[in-house]
Amino acid sequence: MSFLSAELRQKILDYLPRYPSKQAATLPALHLVQDEMRCVPLEAVREIAGLLDLSPAELNDAMSFYGFFRGENHKLGKTRLWVCRSLACALRGGEELLTTMCQKLGVRPGGTTADGTITLEFAECIGVCEGAPAVLVNDEGRPDVTPDKVDALIEELRTRPPALHPTLATPPPRANTTSVP
Ligand code: FES
Repeated sequence: MSFLSAELRQKILDYLPRYPSKQAATLPALHLVQDEMRCVPLEAVREIAGLLDLSPAELNDAMSFYGFFRGENHKLGKTRLWVCRSLACALRGGEELLTTMCQKLGVRPGGTTADGTITLEFAECIGVCEGAPAVLVNDEGRPDVTPDKVDALIEELRTRPPALHPTLATPPPRANTTSVP
């Protein structure tokens, strides 16, 4: 019996025609599973590996190379909130912002709130330097997030519905090409 839902398996399979090999779809497959399950459980690793003609160890190696992916013991909250700690943001209060977030959410970086709504992380430059200090809400950059705006942001995140990764929310059209876009 399949661990992944039929829909999730199909979404992974829909990606395969976009790539020159099944193995090249490893990262999109991991993203799809993590977006939906908020982690990549061991059973999912086995099943994705089967779909991509990889061994579970090979898939696990790829997954663990990227700190982005979480195993089942470190499940993400509904929203992943990244606070930038690179230079532009650090010069404009990024460290203070991260400290305020930790205090308000009651977690350390990498942790998830007790209600499972928000996982707090720090990030290196997220490309919103002109709006420092900045954060990422899942994949959405938010500029000018000063500590006085933290309460409103947390309230927003606690009440909004979960969002899928924007590039993966809709399965790609089937294509005959074997080139990587
Ligand atoms: S340094 Fe923070 S977004 Fe670039």
